[in-house]
Amino acid sequence: MAQKIVAGNWKMNLQFDEALSLVEGILEGNRPSDVDVMAFPTALYVHALSEKVKDEISVGVQNFSPKESGAYTGEMSISQVKSLGASIGLIGHSERRAIFSETNEDLKEKVDASIAKGFRFIFCCGEPLEIREAGTEFSYVKNQLEASLFHLSANEMMNGIIAYEPVWAIGTGKTATSSQAEEMHAEIRSWITEKYSSEVAQSVSILYGGSCNNKNAQELFACPNVDGGLIGGAALKPASFLEIINAF
Ligand code: PGA
Repeated sequence: MAQKIVAGNWKMNLQFDEALSLVEGILEGNRPSDVDVMAFPTALYVHALSEKVKDEISVGVQNFSPKESGAYTGEMSISQVKSLGASIGLIGHSERRAIFSETNEDLKEKVDASIAKGFRFIFCCGEPLEIREAGTEFSYVKNQLEASLFHLSANEMMNGIIAYEPVWAIGTGKTATSSQAEEMHAEIRSWITEKYSSEVAQSVSILYGGSCNNKNAQELFACPNVDGGLIGGAALKPASFLEIINAF
């Protein structure tokens, strides 16, 4: 029941001409009609890319401010990015948490601003290596969700998107095994069932992220609770990204 999604998080990569050829390559490729494809370029490219892809690919932003407007130098609001064609944003990516010190409280504010503005989001969670080594990854991830996301009502959670991205797997080439991914995804779905209902839990897309690529996507996407992927490095070339889109 949950929507299948493959999303590319381009991070701070690609010059403008490279970004244009990447979307051209994706548009030319074969994409199954039941998979939602999303691209998260630098916000600078959102306008041009969203004009180009029309409704075929959702274009989103990697970051945004929960504030409406005003004296916030360097920030961009949800209304501003929406006016350029962005339909979705990432919230809580581990790089935002670790490098830019975004707290659970900051992320909750972004979640609430998104809901208020009718702006979709992918809520990212995942444990760092030391937490995995200590064996406390389930309570760590549950706390991230409880602190920033699980205050939403059942209606607001319906059709939401969560990305589980173990920090030790991001950009390291060290993917979680399909059983590690499935185990966490199943837990996340069971927490949503407990907190809301199984109807809500079945409607939420739970994506895996962290060194997911054209070699391992098929095995990961075959897991019953993995509804797709949030892809970094392997999303930067049309051929590998298209293979991932077709990996279900
Ligand atoms: P990666 O990044 O696929 O390069 O590990 C994933 C992400 O950070 O979303």
